[in-house]
Amino acid sequence: MVKDYLFPKDFWWGSASSATQMEGAANKDGKGKNIWDHWYEIEPNRFFKKIGPSETSQFYERYKEDIALMKELGHNSFRFSISWSRLIPTGEGEVNPKAVQFYNQVMDELWNHGIEPFVNLYHFDMPFEQQEKGGWESREVVKAYVKYAETCFDLFGDRVKKWFTHNEPIVPVENQYLYGHHYPALCNFQKCVQAGFHSILASAMAIRAYHKRNLGGKIGIILNLTPSYPRSQHPADVEAAKIADAFFNRSFLDPSVKGTFPSELVDILKKEGFMPHIEDGDITLIKENTVDLLGINYYQPRRVKAKENLFNPNAPFMPERYFDYHDMPGKKMNPYRGWEIYEKGIYDILMNVKENYGNIECFISENGMGVENETRFLNEEGMIEDDYRIEFYEEHLKWVHQAIQDGSNVKGFHVWTFIDNWSWLNAYKNRYGLVSVDLDKDCKRTVKKSGYWFKKLAVTGLI
Ligand code: BG6
Repeated sequence: MVKDYLFPKDFWWGSASSATQMEGAANKDGKGKNIWDHWYEIEPNRFFKKIGPSETSQFYERYKEDIALMKELGHNSFRFSISWSRLIPTGEGEVNPKAVQFYNQVMDELWNHGIEPFVNLYHFDMPFEQQEKGGWESREVVKAYVKYAETCFDLFGDRVKKWFTHNEPIVPVENQYLYGHHYPALCNFQKCVQAGFHSILASAMAIRAYHKRNLGGKIGIILNLTPSYPRSQHPADVEAAKIADAFFNRSFLDPSVKGTFPSELVDILKKEGFMPHIEDGDITLIKENTVDLLGINYYQPRRVKAKENLFNPNAPFMPERYFDYHDMPGKKMNPYRGWEIYEKGIYDILMNVKENYGNIECFISENGMGVENETRFLNEEGMIEDDYRIEFYEEHLKWVHQAIQDGSNVKGFHVWTFIDNWSWLNAYKNRYGLVSVDLDKDCKRTVKKSGYWFKKLAVTGLI
């Protein structure tokens, strides 16, 4: 019954990527270094096959070709980020005119193809000089970020009507200061909390600056939401899931949408002695400057159970002191990347946003299936036949459709990603694109089967 899955006419169909992951030209035309450029310089071995940020899919030079292909594949919107260190090479001070020219050209090219630019300000790419000053731990860096945001609004606010302050702000914070996947790879919960608080504060300040300008657009944030499911309905498991939710979802979702912090989390921070440094006026500022729009990235859920493994009280503090992960028997896995696939999770998030967050306007800003060694699915014509990805998207989209029927204010769906892109330490290990990139053939682009599937979906609104 195909007509059951017809999406609204004005639904936002598109894809997302980020500056560091697609632009390349890492040292070109006056771009400053960010933490990825620096880390690759000093420790290239950390990166899968030693592929660094200068070897990404060359959007900087090939944006015209890529935007034409986006149009061809049905996009009406595209989310990308501005590189802070390309626009303002040291993170504060002089603006780089070549970067202004580049982003102007990209935005104009998008509009000329009927594709609306959704622009994100921060996607894991702290300018190196700002990291040296303490990165998100430092209040000075918050100020520099707000100036950068204001510069972007003033330069591009005439053509960009959908802005985002951060992509997945919890990810850089937890990976820089707890789990070791982003530079400087420390393990220090106190720093993690401070950096997290400052990114929330920076977001609220950027929202305030945007609204003051009356540019007629909307400003939001993009959060990776991972619904936390308890192992059982036993109160201890339910409690564990609630705490995991407070740490990993509500820590950013509540302040961004409601302007408040979850009391469960604040209680733990107080009890463990990890409250951040907060200055007079900060809490009011966060309260008064919430988002207009919410982007939701969904990949997989979090399965949680009550704490069973004893922890070493001398080990550094981790949120996992309060729960254990539950390896649910029989869960469906992505065999090519090792993440769980649970399609209904996307519906549960949308219903949660509807019921507990004022049904704020939202969209799926990332959803996608990573696959290792994807060339094994090449057919004789040289196209990757990624039926698994088509099925992955269709099954998620059926739940998005159900959410719309049930009153969700979800306005669009962006896949991760358009063209296979460079993904931090994983570099090109997991491929997500609708279009493949051949690194051995000057990044030759070839549309995958899912690219043609996406085109049909975007044009007809039907699965
Ligand atoms: C998302 C991030 O969470 O995951 C992207 O926003 C990232 O930047 C994507 O590339 C995929 O990650 P991975 O580890 O599978 O390559």
